[in-house]
Amino acid sequence: MNLVMIGTGYVGLTTGVGFAMLGHKVACVDIDAGKIARLDLGEVPFYEPGVQEALKTMQGSGNILFTTDLKSVIGNADVLMLAVGTPPKSAGEADLTALFSVADHVGSLLDHEVVVVTKSTVPVGTNRLVLARIREAMKEAGREGLTSLVNIVSVPEFLREGTALEDFLHSDRIVIGADDGIAAQTIDKLHEGITAPRVITSIESAELTKYAANAFLATKISFINEIANLADRVGADVRDIARGIGLDPRIGPAFLRAGIGYGGSCFPKDVSALEQLSGEHGYSFRLLPAVIEVNGRQRDLFFKRLVRDLGGVKGRRIAVWGLAFKPDTDDVRESAAIDIAQRLCAQGAEVVAYDPKATDNARMVLADSVVFAPTAIDACSGAEALVVLTEWPEFREVSFPALKDRMIEPRIFDGRNHLADLHLSQHGFTYRGIGLGSYDV
Ligand code: UGA
Repeated sequence: MNLVMIGTGYVGLTTGVGFAMLGHKVACVDIDAGKIARLDLGEVPFYEPGVQEALKTMQGSGNILFTTDLKSVIGNADVLMLAVGTPPKSAGEADLTALFSVADHVGSLLDHEVVVVTKSTVPVGTNRLVLARIREAMKEAGREGLTSLVNIVSVPEFLREGTALEDFLHSDRIVIGADDGIAAQTIDKLHEGITAPRVITSIESAELTKYAANAFLATKISFINEIANLADRVGADVRDIARGIGLDPRIGPAFLRAGIGYGGSCFPKDVSALEQLSGEHGYSFRLLPAVIEVNGRQRDLFFKRLVRDLGGVKGRRIAVWGLAFKPDTDDVRESAAIDIAQRLCAQGAEVVAYDPKATDNARMVLADSVVFAPTAIDACSGAEALVVLTEWPEFREVSFPALKDRMIEPRIFDGRNHLADLHLSQHGFTYRGIGLGSYDV
């Protein structure tokens, strides 16, 4: 099939490359000419494992192309996918400006049968609004008679940054929300080659499924963080508790890692948007404010303990390992690590940070307040404490005796329990994790 993907961010580009790998002809469109020029040269503007290599291969096979000119590719499209950003507005609701403007543009150009798919995460009701706008723009362009040829299908994405391409090719499920059975079949066929169960449903159910999935995962994280805080007070170990409950298939082991909480471009935005949506429909979704509050408190608690244990951070050199919101990505949006680094700077600490991939993005946010080191161990030279904020695998490979020699005080505050099983206290470090039974605050 011919697929036109509008928006080349994490979701649009990875999904576009994925559909090209399934054998479709994909045209990726973006208004950012600089980005399109780079992509045309095979350069991926962000770090996402496997995407760069897959893109090159797909460009070689002629299955994917990039353009800023929607008009030049829309005529051939069987399916049009919208994957533009829907960032949160100040009250938490999704900002749909970019999506609606794309809908208007699409409608002004469309003159043939097409299935439109919204990939952007959008509040319930948005797909219908997008379709209405497209049809309205078609009418304005004098093509009222063709509007019934255009249908919309909601296919929420469940990709995780860091494993997005793998997640695409080996999805657990494909949710297809449609009014029109033929359009739903087209989208089912588009995914041929992915052997995942299909959930064929209404547009509203598909839209809400996306929010429910993210909100549930965020709830799991806040729940285990609450247990971690209790574990600290009673002398228990949250890792064992997570294993003890996670082996129950009704609970499952995933998303039970305690730490400084969730971040990224999805969970914070989507939990707030779901709360907002509930409010708009006159429903008070009591769990969600608690999930958000607990998540924020994890950072507060971690920082409070750090400052207390160090007897203040002003003028102290602190090493920070990890700035990305999670490992295997260079994304620092809503990163708990960035938040902690900023708090350290605000209290006058001398912060030296290292992240394997996110330094460039972190530099844009942290500017001159932080010094960036070329390696994990260099970040610790002369430091009075090391703070671990993202669980990059390479941090476990460091030579800890060498690390100890570089630090003024061998103290580690691990916001992800990433080094907890290395028994660093037996090697002369003061080690503090989350929920390992060692705090009374
Ligand atoms: C999340 C969902 O997992 C995807 O299914 C969804 O498609 C995506 O949002 C989206 O809506 O686009 P992502 O934000 O890439 O994916 O990252 P996750 O792996 O879900 O991690 C989110 C945050 O939760 C990270 O900050 C991570 O450190 C934190 N986390 C995760 C924990 O604190 N503990 C855990 O046990 C798991």
